[in-house]
Amino acid sequence: MTHEFTGSEFWNERYKNESYMYGVQVNDFLQAQAHLISHGGQVLSLAEGEGRNAVYLAQQGYHVHGVDFSLNGQEKALKLAKAHKVVIEYDLADLTAYKMGVASWDAVVSIFCHLHDTERLTVYKSVKQALKPGGVFILEAYNRKQLKYGTGGPRDASYLASLDQLKEFFEEFDLILAQDIVREIHEGEHHFGSSAVTQFIARKPTK
Ligand SMILES: C[S@@+](CC[C@H](N)C(=O)[O-])C[C@H]1O[C@@H](n2cnc3c(N)ncnc32)[C@H](O)[C@@H]1O
Repeated sequence: MTHEFTGSEFWNERYKNESYMYGVQVNDFLQAQAHLISHGGQVLSLAEGEGRNAVYLAQQGYHVHGVDFSLNGQEKALKLAKAHKVVIEYDLADLTAYKMGVASWDAVVSIFCHLHDTERLTVYKSVKQALKPGGVFILEAYNRKQLKYGTGGPRDASYLASLDQLKEFFEEFDLILAQDIVREIHEGEHHFGSSAVTQFIARKPTK
């Protein structure tokens, strides 16, 4: 089945105009939790899109590296960074094949990165390996209850987050936050209103 959220073509189309589809303000959950990342640390932001989260983190003094498969997203993110006089790195790549490295990052951030059921664990496996001991994984994504709300995100359950899967896969990590909640989200024109999200933060053990 072809779904609208698959493929870089969909995202290039969504990002083709000058306006920022999810706004230029940082995701508020990430903003509230960014203090958990070691000061001045190296951050990898998965599915960075048009750059709002990477730019915010760079403004806080982090060294930020975004990755996303949308060329239009990359171009807009670099433009946003320039406008704010910060430097970000940004790789154009499909996350399912992206080499994140080993013990390389103080944080991996995943904000509204919706991967198919068949691909999600491959990416989480890379995240586990890529975090430094003591590094944190910070995720917010729509979960399956979001299908009832229809206020943003994929309209296909196979792309939506599962808290149980996250807890199970990261079971050896120290859990900081793991919850499914319904909250108001207003981010540009595609995230608009009461939303069912999974929020997950876990730290890689130091030993
Ligand atoms: C809803 S947007 C969120 C963008 C950004 N994280 C934010 O919060 O503004 C989802 C992003 O995931 C990216 N994406 C989806 N699947 C991907 C994949 N397999 N590899 C790389 N990027 C992907 C899309 O290009 C898009 O930029």
